Amino acid sequence: MIVSGSTSQAFSAALADTTGRDLAAVEYDRFPDGELQATVPEFSGEHCVVVGSTASSDAHLELLQLQDAVREAGAREVTTVLPYMGYARQDRAFSAGEPVSARAVARAISTGTDRVLTVNPHETGVCDFFTVPADPVDAAGRLAEPLPDDLADPLFLSPDEGAIDLATTARNAYGRGATDYFEKERDYDTGAVEVEPSDAAVADRDVVLVDDIVATGSTMSESVDVLTDRDATRVFVTCVHPMLAAAARTKLERAGTTAVFGTDTIERSVSAVSAAPAVADRL
Ligand code: R5P
Repeated sequence: MIVSGSTSQAFSAALADTTGRDLAAVEYDRFPDGELQATVPEFSGEHCVVVGSTASSDAHLELLQLQDAVREAGAREVTTVLPYMGYARQDRAFSAGEPVSARAVARAISTGTDRVLTVNPHETGVCDFFTVPADPVDAAGRLAEPLPDDLADPLFLSPDEGAIDLATTARNAYGRGATDYFEKERDYDTGAVEVEPSDAAVADRDVVLVDDIVATGSTMSESVDVLTDRDATRVFVTCVHPMLAAAARTKLERAGTTAVFGTDTIERSVSAVSAAPAVADRL
């Protein structure tokens, strides 16, 4: 049985389709004071897969409620799928007095489950923060699916070295093309991003930018600018997690992006492909 959080309904439907499991009739409600109340049907000794991207504090709380509710309702075993794990980028205390938020949320989630699967966390080491077995799932290969078949001499490019494996996975799934990466510098006071172009020739080629997440869009819009200056023909922005916070979509549009594609780990209008098949293989 698949038990979906309210913000992961498309992902959960795709997971149910792919695995042939039933989707539970979950209800999402609120008490008059605004507190959440998610309820689930009875289960008799079943393996329940609780799915919830924790992209907001409410979604995180709702996930904890669903985990608790399925145990109460009789689930024998609980697997928790985090299509997107919120707070995963706060995986260390960056200055004195800060929490390791990824560890704090991982511990909380561990209390309600036997196992965790999470799609492309920023660093796979975050899985070590869970106190139950936890594994990363790589859905970058899914990003090849919405790309046009006619890419001209394509270059799959990551905006920093850390995402080169994602670009390589997407390239391999597409079946042809080269791979490369930019060097990125971020000013953490202003949020401004600068990318240092590699010497890859991009003139008259189609470029597919690949990253784990587009958050404020600064990284990708700066990369699109650089590629456009260097006469790339088309620039596709792809990411596993299309967070698209604040003015990200506008920044990408203004930079001249040809198209933006993401998966449904965070459900947005650009979620052109589901990451569920990658998770299904690991359930
Ligand atoms: C950082 O290393 C990540 O892989 C992304 O590049 C980054 O989080 C994207 O953030 P933004 O869209 O705010 O530039």
